[in-house]
Amino acid sequence: MISAVMMAGYITIWANLGREPIAAAQHGWHEHVINSHSYTVKNGQWNTPDQPASQKLDDIHTALLKTGKVFMLAGSGNNINHSHHEVYQAGIYDPETGQTKVLRIPNDMFCAGITTLSDGQLLIAGGTSHYEVLKTEVQYAGGVMTIKNESPDSGTFVLPKGTELRSPGGRLYRTRDSLRVDPATKQVGPRGAVTITASSQDTWVDAEAKGASSVSTDTHITYTVVSGLPPEIQSNNVYGVSSSTGLTLDKQEFAGASFSYLFDPSVEQFTKVDNLKFARWYPTTITLPSGRVLAISGLDQFGRILQGFNEVYDQVTQKWTLLPHTKLFPTYPAMFVTERPNTLLYTGGSAGYGSDKIGRSPGLWNWQTNAFQAIPGLRDSNMTETSDSLLLPPANAQRYMIAGGGGVGNSEKSTSRTDIVDLKDSHPRFTPGPDLLTKLRYMIGTILPDNTVLFSGGTAGYRANGNSYTHMAAIYDPATNIMRRVADSRIGRTYHSSAVLLPDGSVFTAGGDPLYSDAAGKIPGSFEQRIEIYKPPYMFQGERPVIIDGPSELVRGQSAELSVSADQKITGARLLRLGVSTHTTDNAQRSVELKIQHDGTGKLGVTLPKSGRLLMGGWYMLFVSNQDGVPSVARMVHVA
Ligand code: CU
Repeated sequence: MISAVMMAGYITIWANLGREPIAAAQHGWHEHVINSHSYTVKNGQWNTPDQPASQKLDDIHTALLKTGKVFMLAGSGNNINHSHHEVYQAGIYDPETGQTKVLRIPNDMFCAGITTLSDGQLLIAGGTSHYEVLKTEVQYAGGVMTIKNESPDSGTFVLPKGTELRSPGGRLYRTRDSLRVDPATKQVGPRGAVTITASSQDTWVDAEAKGASSVSTDTHITYTVVSGLPPEIQSNNVYGVSSSTGLTLDKQEFAGASFSYLFDPSVEQFTKVDNLKFARWYPTTITLPSGRVLAISGLDQFGRILQGFNEVYDQVTQKWTLLPHTKLFPTYPAMFVTERPNTLLYTGGSAGYGSDKIGRSPGLWNWQTNAFQAIPGLRDSNMTETSDSLLLPPANAQRYMIAGGGGVGNSEKSTSRTDIVDLKDSHPRFTPGPDLLTKLRYMIGTILPDNTVLFSGGTAGYRANGNSYTHMAAIYDPATNIMRRVADSRIGRTYHSSAVLLPDGSVFTAGGDPLYSDAAGKIPGSFEQRIEIYKPPYMFQGERPVIIDGPSELVRGQSAELSVSADQKITGARLLRLGVSTHTTDNAQRSVELKIQHDGTGKLGVTLPKSGRLLMGGWYMLFVSNQDGVPSVARMVHVA
């Protein structure tokens, strides 16, 4: 709505513009309106900080650190030249100064699993070992071959990268990576009968010659090792067997890596820890109430979806252990900690890869027993890929939302559906929430400290195809169930974008990786490296309450006293867990409401819930809000 005062401003500006073209005048007018107090107080404001080129990077995974700075992880940043030259990057953005410190990192953590441990360190598991090669670009036939060793006496030896194998027809193939080969196992039976079982390990091979002549569609045939064997190993004991996919010129998928690293925000350094049991590209990692971390799904080191092999990381031993049972999910499944023991909610959301039929149905997964209770009622259940899922604020109510999404793979289908499941219900089912402003994939929901959610970014088409960005943003209030349009962002965002809440109550948004930069789909897209920060309406609604002092360590089930501004009535206090956003979902963010006692004197008593499944140990932003619902700036606290 335009007020009379603003109309007057409009006339002045218009008069001052003289002979400027109409478009520029309209632009000036638009800028004036969206920065006016009467507009920002209702709709908030987007700002794009100035970033020198040397501070820009392809931010794919974003995490708020306990230091209040923002960790931006690119790895090779979906840039094959970076991959070839081993240019792997991360950035530390400081909201106080607007500057980003760019770090070279030790491995390609592009599309890894990323989660925050209870001590505030990040655990980054898996990543990229090889880039995809599109079918049109595959020059050398390739595929997975199983190397077998029938000798129980060979000891363990290494076949170097480039080891040559020859097909029965005389075609030559070379291994892409070095491979450790174990001896065969030997078992002596009760009557002295000896059983020898060959060791068996998969590796990737590429043809020595280009083109169709090197394709070998014969499966399960034997290939002879012709170079690379240690001299003491007899060549007839060691051989290759082609897999059921043969050696073809088909598309070669991105391949996963098995490294994992800790990142310590205090010193801003990486430490290598135990390798994953399985290489993973596009895994979901989630910190459990016990402090352990699950790694779920992903593509293996040959670009094949893992057949339900999931594993758990122990933060004390720093080791990964495979779960004893298998459960198959698509890549980057949207998983959330619930108040039910050992039970994760899978909303059906995902990003990346996987069958369009298997593992797509939402439900409650007990990762210890492997029991899975399906949750009915989800609408547009064939459009859950690239959706956003979140635990609605307050987390105490145990209501989870899935919003938007598209068809599996490079489908142009998308939906504006939001559905909500209430896990306080003993027979939970999805019920309709309000529609998004438009059909969207890759849109991100960020929990705000006034118990609302900002939905920002997203495109209708697959990876912004047809230049299908929305610039519209909305704030959803779970208490009233109203989705309200607020100020438009300047920058459109699609796949590989992310958003996290900052301690001052604003929202940091970054990234975006369109396939094309034009609507016609002729010009390849370039990565969106600009940051944009959204200030919600409460940052324009007058004086904010202040947390003057308080303990920096809070204990579950106990009370603590805070010193707050005496001139405001405090009506709420909550803990917001530090966000970790990637591939359309943040499974870390949650807002836990605290019980308060306030006598108006500047002292505020807060009591934490007892449940570690609601309020797991770790770092949180503590906010208080006043009678108008305006939140303070956060105080960073640790919950034990
Ligand atoms: Cu990715």
